[in-house]
Amino acid sequence: MNNKYFNAFIFLLATAVLSTSAYYTQAYSTETESPKTELLVHKSPTCGCCKEWIKHANSNGYTTTTQDHSNLGEIKEMYDIKPQYRSCHTTVSSEGYIFEGHIPAKYITQFLSEDHPDAIGLSVPGMPLGSPGMEVGDRFMPYDVLILFKDGTSKVYAEVLKK
Ligand code: CU
Ligand code: CU
Repeated sequence: MNNKYFNAFIFLLATAVLSTSAYYTQAYSTETESPKTELLVHKSPTCGCCKEWIKHANSNGYTTTTQDHSNLGEIKEMYDIKPQYRSCHTTVSSEGYIFEGHIPAKYITQFLSEDHPDAIGLSVPGMPLGSPGMEVGDRFMPYDVLILFKDGTSKVYAEVLKK
């Protein structure tokens, strides 16, 4: 190998090592740090419980932005959230999943760590008392977190029996 080719060879080798280590740093950090997902929350401008839920998401490590709408029905239509699954606000994650209503953030984190090719996201229909953002003193009613599928069906993803 003459000098010119040798230098080119070293350069390629260094590039390969650098890009491999960059890859590992990236893969490693997604596993160990708090949620990287950004949440866009569609809500009505006057909704107070929505703001409380956003605080809950933020305190669980999520970065949120909000968008106010006068007609949220259009948003729910757009994301194909059937009437029986609807709540006040509709959250869309940076991955494109839907998180409808007052879902405890830990289930969002759990869902995002799993593989759900047939799901559009999660929902807590209505606004159960005692769910995150719906606190009224100590009052609590048990509720289900549903997983919503692309075909319009759903299943119970988690049963929430206490605060
Ligand atoms: Cu609400
Ligand atoms: Cu809300």
